[in-house]
Amino acid sequence: MIKVLSVFGTRPEAIKMAPLIKVLQKEKDIDSKVCVTAQHREMLDQVMDIFQLTADYDLNIMEEKQSLSDITIHALKGLEEVIKDAQPDMVLVHGDTATTFAGALASYYNKVNLGHVEAGLRTYNKYFPYPEELNRRLVGAIADLHFAPTFGSKRNLLRENIGENSIFVTGNTVIDALKTTINKEYEFKDPTLKMVDFSKRIILVTAHRRENIGEPLENICNAINQICENYKDVEIIYPVHMNPKVRDVVFGILGNKDGVHLIDPIDVVEMHNLMDRSFIVLTDSGGLQEEAPSLGKPVLVLRSETERPEAIEYGTVKLAGTKMKNIYTLASILLDDKNEYEKMANAINPYGDGYASERIKDCLLYKFRYKKERPVDFRP
Ligand code: UD1
Ligand code: UDP
Repeated sequence: MIKVLSVFGTRPEAIKMAPLIKVLQKEKDIDSKVCVTAQHREMLDQVMDIFQLTADYDLNIMEEKQSLSDITIHALKGLEEVIKDAQPDMVLVHGDTATTFAGALASYYNKVNLGHVEAGLRTYNKYFPYPEELNRRLVGAIADLHFAPTFGSKRNLLRENIGENSIFVTGNTVIDALKTTINKEYEFKDPTLKMVDFSKRIILVTAHRRENIGEPLENICNAINQICENYKDVEIIYPVHMNPKVRDVVFGILGNKDGVHLIDPIDVVEMHNLMDRSFIVLTDSGGLQEEAPSLGKPVLVLRSETERPEAIEYGTVKLAGTKMKNIYTLASILLDDKNEYEKMANAINPYGDGYASERIKDCLLYKFRYKKERPVDFRP
């Protein structure tokens, strides 16, 4: 049996690894174990509960206002023990968080093969996003197998002289997850969402990025405030990240404003169904940029660059940056101009077809010679 140890620690990694872990668990030739660093605690547990995942190892490292070094050191040290105990043939990490980087480094120090899920995303700007851009490049240097979600991400890896044989285009596992969550009859559990008037136009907002904390996040909140003041038929729903540095700013500016609902993080089934009933999405999140296009929801990205250019090319996503005037102007165009809205509201799926996890599992079987044929790359 191939012993696979999946390592993750934050909400988005858990959402995107959950479908893969389910597939690995069902495969007779794979012994699948899970280690969570718990870089996030409540937000991770919410995902583990909703997908009914249990961790074989839980490093429980989260601290309030943790620094990047705190996370990296604690995860690296804890993982050393876990890898010694689990003796995996392959460690899997996802994406670009501090946990991803520590997981990759731990696998290298212990000379274990590494598979990188969601490989090859790049802005080539080392501080945007920070520290994700460098995390994924460093992990790319360590990984033995690169599961690139798109051909664009494969091209980035080839440009960095990564061997073509080690790169597989699989689609993004987030689309696998999305396929299991959307339900047109869905009834919300969150008390605020139960009360929201969905006949109004809903703007879904999330923002949490480290480089946006401070003035950019203040600008974002001020733009939201202005939208609310000028559009009375709009309701803003903003599930606010648990980071106190985010919450202080957001509640400080938007707390108790008419038309703005600030809620705690909601589970991913609630989130996907909320997105499905929204008019537009304003976000600096990576995952939302991938999910919203497949639901045909226009996205204004609250960043100046993105490592996910595919949906911009298809016209469903626009970069709005973090200046108040720009965000407000782009949002008003979508709210005022039906044609402009229709141009952006196209359901597209450049990020996957719902079978990314199956492909990744097949790549593992191929690597360890349980399968003869190289899995066929995903094409949109
Ligand atoms: C992390 C990732 C980022 C990812 C994001 C997803 C790094 C460096 N950053 O950023 O790439 O996009 O997760 O959300 O890996 N907190 C809680 N409870 C939780 C989660 C967080 O209280 O369940 C608070 C803690 O005070 C914690 C702080 O939020 O110290 C920040 O968490 P951290 O994981 O360091 O950074 P994120 O901004 O969440
Ligand atoms: N999400 C969620 N509940 C929330 C906010 C986001 O389930 O209250 C989901 C969202 O649908 C996406 C993922 O979390 O799948 C994105 O996580 P986040 O924005 O924290 O991280 P990023 O994608 O930017 O790394």
